Amino acid sequence: MANSVPDILEKKSFVVVTGVGRGLGRSIASKLVAKLPTASFFVFLSPSNTGQESLVSELSMSHPDVRIRTRAFDQGEMDQTVFDHIFVDILKTDNLEVRGFEQVIIVHNCALVGDVTKWTWDLTDVTSLVRLFNVNVVGMILLNSTFLNMFSEVKSRVVINVTSGNAIRPYKTMSTYCTAKAARDMYFRVLSSEDPSIRVLSYSPGHVDTKMLTYVRDNTIDKDLSNRIKAAYTDGRVLSCDASAEKMIAILEKNTFENASYVAYTDPL
Ligand SMILES: NC(=O)c1ccc[n+]([C@@H]2O[C@H](COP(=O)([O-])OP(=O)(O)OC[C@H]3O[C@@H](n4cnc5c(N)ncnc54)[C@H](OP(=O)(O)O)[C@@H]3O)[C@@H](O)[C@H]2O)c1
Repeated sequence: MANSVPDILEKKSFVVVTGVGRGLGRSIASKLVAKLPTASFFVFLSPSNTGQESLVSELSMSHPDVRIRTRAFDQGEMDQTVFDHIFVDILKTDNLEVRGFEQVIIVHNCALVGDVTKWTWDLTDVTSLVRLFNVNVVGMILLNSTFLNMFSEVKSRVVINVTSGNAIRPYKTMSTYCTAKAARDMYFRVLSSEDPSIRVLSYSPGHVDTKMLTYVRDNTIDKDLSNRIKAAYTDGRVLSCDASAEKMIAILEKNTFENASYVAYTDPL
């Protein structure tokens, strides 16, 4: 596909990243701060302030001129007011104009993996099922719509959907997570068919050494899945968060990916 939006990483951008307190999101946020022009503005959204505040302290040492704001944000909390006001409030507080940015980027990174201690037919708890789909799908859609509407005048809008191999392959004990990831990928394919000017990257980061992966390894009742993750660790096939985030940055830099198609860490650049 032709380069429809060249030079993503060279534009002064308003950037939103969800789930930066730990794991992959933390590395993605750091790499974007390091790569994008200093005049860019970053918004980090995570439920716990501790993780994201420590990231901001780190980044303000290494990149003192970059503006970063954080908001305590729970993507699974279905409060219309939060979604309606989040970006309006941030722009207002910092006296920013939508027109002040050449580009806007949102990275939908945060996700819940769900309960891997049960087989699929034993998922009977209303609260935990609703919570998983609220965080992984409904809240993500609401945040995405709010973002795209808020910045509808900005010519270059980039959306990164952190997807997973689970979106395209079944993994035992992970049915809800697989379903949610597959739903997100299709949501972005539809969105991108409606407005191809929105640049959408669905990035599958590989096995990444995070709390999520170790939780699945140590808790799934599917011994085969647990052993496969253990083997990936033993064989050195588990990536660091930085390595996977760097590949994502390289994909954005090259900017030849097909809109909203599934792009894996292992795919050639
Ligand atoms: N690790 C892997 O091997 C792997 C493989 C494929 C895809 N992925 C995908 O990569 C992304 C990052 O995963 P990870 O492995 O880094 O997971 P992780 O270690 O569990 O980190 C998840 C992040 O999401 C945030 N979060 C959790 N619940 C949230 C909520 N309700 N609202 C907003 N943020 C919330 C957490 O915030 P706090 O720090 O504040 O708790 C944390 O920063 C996910 O989309 C995951 O599906 C991971």
